[in-house]
Amino acid sequence: MEITHIDHLGIAVKSIDACLPYYEGVLGVKCYNIEVVEDQKVKTAFFKVGEVKIELLEPTSEDSTIAKFIEKRGEGIHHIAFATPSVGDALEEVSAKGVQLIDKAPRRGAEGMDIAFLHPKSTCGILTELCMEGNK
Ligand code: CO
Repeated sequence: MEITHIDHLGIAVKSIDACLPYYEGVLGVKCYNIEVVEDQKVKTAFFKVGEVKIELLEPTSEDSTIAKFIEKRGEGIHHIAFATPSVGDALEEVSAKGVQLIDKAPRRGAEGMDIAFLHPKSTCGILTELCMEGNK
């Protein structure tokens, strides 16, 4: 399987607005996109840090998986996303190796990227996203 790089780190937060002063004012990394992903009930904010992005995830509803995550574990690292040339091919390959999948097929994530999640039970405890390489 070909992983080219870490695309982004997903961080669950209660409020993106409350985090902007830290990321932009203290770290000096600029937010270049804020977007609501309706079917995930989440608002996302992206920052570019060199080649790696930070994706802040704010729940837009109490039954959002991000709301549940924050309730259970607090704010913090939610997932790590690896870039791969084809999410579909990568899913087939990891599935054949016995990895438990959350998404059986690629779906559309923030920034129109093909993404799919692998279950943390199969990935040493970190919710893992595979995303298409080269989409911004
Ligand atoms: Co992500």
